[in-house]
Amino acid sequence: EKGTYPHYMLKEIDEQPAVLRKIIQAHRGPDGGLWLEEDTLRAITEADRLYIIAAGTSYHAGLVGKEYFEKFAGIPAEVHISSEFGYNMPILSERPLFIFISQSGETADSRQVLVKVKEMGHPSVTLTNVSGSTLSRESDHTVLLHAGPEIAVASTKAYTAQIAVLSILAACVAGTKGKSIGFDLIQELGIAANAAETVIDRKEDMEAVAFEFLQLSRNAFFIGRGIDYHVSLEGALKLKEISYIQAEGFAGGELKHGTIALIEEGTPVFALATQPELSANIRGNVKEVTARGAHACLLSMDGTAEESDRIVIPAVHPLLTPLVSVIPLQLISYYASLHRGCDVDQPRNLAKSVTVE
Ligand code: F6R
Repeated sequence: EKGTYPHYMLKEIDEQPAVLRKIIQAHRGPDGGLWLEEDTLRAITEADRLYIIAAGTSYHAGLVGKEYFEKFAGIPAEVHISSEFGYNMPILSERPLFIFISQSGETADSRQVLVKVKEMGHPSVTLTNVSGSTLSRESDHTVLLHAGPEIAVASTKAYTAQIAVLSILAACVAGTKGKSIGFDLIQELGIAANAAETVIDRKEDMEAVAFEFLQLSRNAFFIGRGIDYHVSLEGALKLKEISYIQAEGFAGGELKHGTIALIEEGTPVFALATQPELSANIRGNVKEVTARGAHACLLSMDGTAEESDRIVIPAVHPLLTPLVSVIPLQLISYYASLHRGCDVDQPRNLAKSVTVE
């Protein structure tokens, strides 16, 4: 039930800190350290390469997950759009493991890949919010997201849950391989949950941003580098699906290779600059677009922020920023949709789970 909330989406955005805390609890072992079901952990650890398969928002979470598997555990990982994978299969490694990410566990595009790789005899893990869903039943292992029912068509809390669970999976695999990830993940996820709460408390400011930057816009750009680039794709998807504003996410450095031609007086550009070592580069890209008339909204993090940055999230571990930086983007999309009179929870042409290929 949405209770006092005007929309499920707003309720689900608000639930994110609690979901993160629930995930931490669910993966805490008796010794206080990280825990993952043993068979699942073994299956991932035995693989020489991971193939992450997903669609839409879950694909965007997969892009972040790849970073965790490679940086924490040293396992190469590829992320594929499920609808493309079936007929465009890459050369597989000797011991591949497939990770399906699906909030609903019912996405037909992802299921057809699962059917195919099962026929080939490859092991699979499904990350889903719905126990007993098709993908969960048909894959070898399931890891639950603990996000609770997600009703709004636009996915919010499932995305952050997927990213948190992926970080835990990767850290557990690192542990099994005797690798140190260099920080205390449980503690840092807790810090991220608190930071998420802080951002959620700034709704009025996000509403003001939506009004200032998007009230009259027909299009918008989201740019970022590294992990911020992955989040920029998700920010753009959220905005287009519920506000019908055409939005694109781009790697900061790629914009000048063509897309910058679209920047004109007043074009909104949301630039993510949370990564300390990439901050100078992305700020350079912001200068390029503002010189051409763009209306830039900078989103940075305490520690690397500059005076003029419009949105500053509290400091979290640089690899966990997506858990927090996506929230202002979700809220901005929400308010943009609301003020344009769109149907926030039930956008046109979309269904919550896409059960056709
Ligand atoms: C976007 C959205 C969709 C889903 C996609 C995959 O807000 O909801 O892009 O993420 O259809 O759905 P699942 O995760 O259920 O496989």
